[in-house]
Amino acid sequence: MSEDDARRELPTRLIHTRGERLSRVTVNPPVERASTVLFRTEAGLYGAKPTYGRMGLAVHRELEAAMCALEGARSTRLAANGLQACALAIASLVEAGGHLLLSDSAYGPTARFCERRLKAMGVEAERFDPRIGAGIAALFRDNTQAILLESPGSLTFEIADLPAIAAEARPRGIRIICDNTWGAGLHHQPLALGADISAQALTKYVVGHSDAFGGAVMTNDPGLERRIANCSEDWGIALAPDDAWLAIRGIRTLATRLKAHEAAGLDLAHWLGQRPEVDHVLHPALPSHPDHALWQRDFTGANGLFSIVLKPVPEGGLERFFDALQLFGMGFSWGGFESLIIPCDEQLTRRPGCWTSAKAGPLLRLHVGLEAVSDLKADLESAFAAMVSTT
Ligand SMILES: Cc1ncc(COP(=O)(O)O)c(C=O)c1O
Repeated sequence: MSEDDARRELPTRLIHTRGERLSRVTVNPPVERASTVLFRTEAGLYGAKPTYGRMGLAVHRELEAAMCALEGARSTRLAANGLQACALAIASLVEAGGHLLLSDSAYGPTARFCERRLKAMGVEAERFDPRIGAGIAALFRDNTQAILLESPGSLTFEIADLPAIAAEARPRGIRIICDNTWGAGLHHQPLALGADISAQALTKYVVGHSDAFGGAVMTNDPGLERRIANCSEDWGIALAPDDAWLAIRGIRTLATRLKAHEAAGLDLAHWLGQRPEVDHVLHPALPSHPDHALWQRDFTGANGLFSIVLKPVPEGGLERFFDALQLFGMGFSWGGFESLIIPCDEQLTRRPGCWTSAKAGPLLRLHVGLEAVSDLKADLESAFAAMVSTT
């Protein structure tokens, strides 16, 4: 990092990262849609890099530099989407005969990769309680190679005690990966707290407009940087130039957008906590959340994504609730400018005996977008009225 950069705040650096770009004629980098890269001389063919579009061009270099700034990392490897980034991070750390510890509230398809694909590669995945903290040491085996954390967890928002887990894992040479999509780098920096790798789905807040995919894998360890690069090269992992461009464009406004999502999300979360239909709210920035103290210690902010557990719902009430919504869309993503809500019970594949099997009523996940909060409250209010209506 240059001396000028070191003096500046992160939002400023995100706007002014220029990667290796030589030309300064446009504010954002040009999109080079290219497989073939041409060389003027034969000598250049085997000397310079990149030699092929899959290695990424100007827009990729600029996005990598911005992601390094965001996560406090020395290296970033880009992937086509967030799931691929998580798979790349995990596969870079494990080998046949190994054992991976997998947070029980990890994003479902990442858990499926660990349990299905790693099994085929001869690696056993074992789920653990995301709130286990230092107790994770009891699960270590001689062949444990890595721990996958996602904090807060998908759908249920448990916060992992990353420093406590790292204190147990590091002396044993067990590596830690953290899916940092919720913290987005701005609000949580796992590499500074003991993780070896931080991974993000750029698809969410970095892109921020629900119109592109992207993934990124960050590390500060030169040995791991090489392992991640090898794995990425072997699998031919790459991010499409247009998606990379949308990600670098999105990152310029990330800090401002996240503040707005956070404020609107907290407003709605407090409001929902007072609603008679709601049993409790799962939002780590609320003092009522069981991991609030950890969140205060390890995060600097929140965003618009959280869940609620309803009280038991009358027959047909959930369908009436969702059918009545006009502003909240039903869709399986988050991080865009629009508000979304989904019922989650069908997605909850958790360890037997996990607290979710004893919850009061249905689990709903909300993503609070950038609409006026008063309009969002009115939308939910009429949906609640429809839910409890018996006529
Ligand atoms: C926490 C988390 N990680 C990873 C992903 C995967 O990202 P993508 O959809 O870009 O593959 C998601 C997607 O919802 C997610 O929520």
